[in-house]
Amino acid sequence: MKHALPLTALSSNITDNNKMPESQTEIPVDELSPEQAETELARLASEIAGHDRRYYQKDAPTISDAAYDALRRRNEAIEARFPGLTRPDSPSRRVGAAPTSGFSKVAHAVPMLSLGNAFDAEDVAEFFARIGRFLGLPETDTIDVIAEPKIDGLSISLRYEGGNIVQGATRGDGATGENVTANVKTIAEIPKTLRGQAPDVLEIRGEVYMGRQAFAALNEQREKDGDAVFANPRNAAAGSLRQLDATITALRPLRIFCYAWGETSEMLADTQTAFLDRLREWGFPVNPFAGRCRGVAEALAKYDEIYAARAQLDYDIDGVVYKVDRLDWQQRLGFVSRAPRWAIAHKFPAEKAQTVLNEITIQVGRTGALTPVANLAPITVGGVVVSRATLHNADEIERKDIREGDTVIIQRAGDVIPQVVEIVLEMRPSSSKPYQFPTTCPCDLRTPAFREPGEAVTRCTGELACPYQQVERLRHFVSRDAFDIEGLGEKQISAFFERGWVKSPADIFDLQKNDSDREPKLRELEGWGDKSATNLFAAIEAKRTIPLERLIYALGIRQIGQATAKQLARHYGSFSRWQEAMHQATMERSGNRLETKKAETVGEAYAALCDIDGIGIKMADDIVAFFSEPHNVAAIEALGDRLTIEEAAQPDTSSSAVAGKTVVFTGSLETMSRAEAKATAEARGAKVSGSVSKKTDYVIVGADAGSKAKKAQDLGVAILSEKDWRALIGG
Ligand code: IVH
Repeated sequence: MKHALPLTALSSNITDNNKMPESQTEIPVDELSPEQAETELARLASEIAGHDRRYYQKDAPTISDAAYDALRRRNEAIEARFPGLTRPDSPSRRVGAAPTSGFSKVAHAVPMLSLGNAFDAEDVAEFFARIGRFLGLPETDTIDVIAEPKIDGLSISLRYEGGNIVQGATRGDGATGENVTANVKTIAEIPKTLRGQAPDVLEIRGEVYMGRQAFAALNEQREKDGDAVFANPRNAAAGSLRQLDATITALRPLRIFCYAWGETSEMLADTQTAFLDRLREWGFPVNPFAGRCRGVAEALAKYDEIYAARAQLDYDIDGVVYKVDRLDWQQRLGFVSRAPRWAIAHKFPAEKAQTVLNEITIQVGRTGALTPVANLAPITVGGVVVSRATLHNADEIERKDIREGDTVIIQRAGDVIPQVVEIVLEMRPSSSKPYQFPTTCPCDLRTPAFREPGEAVTRCTGELACPYQQVERLRHFVSRDAFDIEGLGEKQISAFFERGWVKSPADIFDLQKNDSDREPKLRELEGWGDKSATNLFAAIEAKRTIPLERLIYALGIRQIGQATAKQLARHYGSFSRWQEAMHQATMERSGNRLETKKAETVGEAYAALCDIDGIGIKMADDIVAFFSEPHNVAAIEALGDRLTIEEAAQPDTSSSAVAGKTVVFTGSLETMSRAEAKATAEARGAKVSGSVSKKTDYVIVGADAGSKAKKAQDLGVAILSEKDWRALIGG
């Protein structure tokens, strides 16, 4: 588990298609004895070699990419723990056998996004309320949505030109997918030529899936043939679609439901309902449950209907998606981060299972948080074998009185980390004792662990002295969404750290320079050679130029995820401006230790930081705390000296009259809510601030504007009515 999905994924409420691998029956890596590790490495070497053969030579992989990646990661993790046991035929030594796919890449003209989640009726009601607020609708208005099952398959984009299919692409990371045109053409349900009138360019999106009966039959056949079986229909669909030889895909019973669009040369409809009608007319399969619901109550009734029908369906679904029916509203609502504001996935309740909690171990995160982890007797929950579950923190253990040896009920919802929900007290061994949360970090330094009053998290106080934190930060720095340096994974970074070669991120960029006067050299280390060392140095060089948002994310500042890093990068534009503003904000804050709710009273730079969409005082304080640490500042400066940091891509505002302007909205606006006003202004390149100062370019006043309008007048800042503002931004 540890190696399959980071525990931090828990904090995200966005789902995407990177679900857990199907098998985790193995003993956790940190519990393997050397003998077990040796046997396991032998098994993995042969198993991975078999998969490579089937993938590269026979074009017929028998496991999903996720499961394959999990095997390789496990192999790496074991080697990292027992470097001496690395085999001559280890998969980690075979250069060029990396699981890069043989498909060409396709950049999505319109990104393929994820959906936010709702878990209960209250979340759904809040979704409707949020939309009403954003659009500024009277509370009595009903919002129509389309509800449809959330199909548990893999999303696909189908491009038509002149009514003929020209391209099929997987979602990939949302921005770039794989070209699977030949494969999708073999799926009978996908129209190759559209019926009736269609726009010249039409990209339709949907979910490819395999029916349950077809899945069972396929697995039965594979078992007879001695092939590995698929863990579930979704993996079978993914494995079947991503065949390099499309004639194999053609033999697999793949199906599709379509539900969205991407790039199109003309408007398709006014409502989602009308869009679904057009889909049917063109010949695309649309899920029969898809239907319009007037308001929350009808949406929830539809959810109940679909949930009740679930068991009888021949395909897997994991929730119900609600989408605002009016497309003009969808457009106004837009997106936050990677998910639309106008849609949400209402997930079905988690699946549960009973098992034994063998041991509680502690994981140390990059910010020093000690997270207790339940090591379980492996058990299948919702089609996945689970052997670890998060216990969150000390309070959670105490509140539930979770003990080693307990029989527990665990649950797993979608791609969320499994959790312990209940203890079966009748089955508690008489010898059991309450769990004592450690008061020191499990690292060699045994640094004291401390919990701030009122905080749930216990943290190692070692900061950067704690080797666990250091390694975790470095791992984060090179992770996929951060620097993503090929050949520099968790295993390598840990090994370099142990040798003292890489202690701080900047050291990565000195590796090659220092290698020349070092003994042993990288190429002389076990598992390395001339070629792999050269490749690594080249991969590091390739990342010497890096977008600002990636750099900010890579620093691993508490609470600053990808979306926030992007916001910061966009707001400040360049590395130097960002750095300067953060130092300024840090200075302002350090001179103002009072608990303050009013950012403006702290200082201008601090207030501007708090004002950025999605930031606020709490996050701003985490950033400031980061910049108050001299070693963090030194680490950033060292990076600045070694890297070329690209300025952030700004939204295309070439035709915008308000690009770069700072605006303040005040009073109650008539034609739009505050949230929408802010979003539209930002989309046009303006900065929206909460307070008026000399630097403000425009103050837009609604009804009953108070002190801000007055201040604007005093400072001589241009004051606009809502109408003037609309005229200025072009409608
Ligand atoms: S709408 C902009 N509708 O769920 C959002 N997605 O968690 C477009 N999915 O990547 C997605 N059934 O692969 C939509 N009826 C449905 C869906 C659906 C399954 C998948 C899709 C998406 C993922 C998001």
